[in-house]
Amino acid sequence: MGNARVIVVEGDITRQQVDAVVNAANRGMRGGGGVDGAIHRAGGPAVLEDCVRRFPHGLGTGQAGWTTAGDLAAQWVIHVVGPNFGAGERDRSLLVSCYANALAVADELGAGTVAFPLVSAGIYAWPLDDAIAAAVETLRATPTEVEEARIVAFGRPTYDAIAAAL
Ligand code: AR6
Repeated sequence: MGNARVIVVEGDITRQQVDAVVNAANRGMRGGGGVDGAIHRAGGPAVLEDCVRRFPHGLGTGQAGWTTAGDLAAQWVIHVVGPNFGAGERDRSLLVSCYANALAVADELGAGTVAFPLVSAGIYAWPLDDAIAAAVETLRATPTEVEEARIVAFGRPTYDAIAAAL
């Protein structure tokens, strides 16, 4: 096993031509706002149906699991549950686990290219610079067969900050 090549692009995660897209989900795994809402809208009802079937009790914080990607160009959605900083969940190892566990699921699936959002950096209010550092460090350091880990920045300022970290 090697390490993924980590790159950044600016854009919408639902538009990425990759094998798998990572969703910043919540423990209930029945959809929400932000990336989660965008993925469920673009992927269509098959994503929610598969969430219900495969994760009847949802997922724990820091964990990862996959479903179909429905109508997305990607084949799979890898759902992760980031810690909710705003609600007092501030254990950084849980954020690191999201990235490491997502890569492990990608390896199970044989996904070569994976698009990641900045987990916890939106509605869950993790400080942006540390959310970027956790993503970059973990994606670079975790042994994986994934060839490309593509961080998708939502907006130019976030893109610039990730590019600087890389
Ligand atoms: N493509 C790429 N990045 C995006 C997109 C998009 N379409 N939309 C938002 N971002 P968030 P969280 C960025 O809030 O903080 C949901 O309700 C956003 O600017 O999606 O982990 C879930 O159901 C930010 O940088 O995820 C949970 O309840 C990053 O993606 C909760 O929000 C993550 O923001 C999860 O909150």
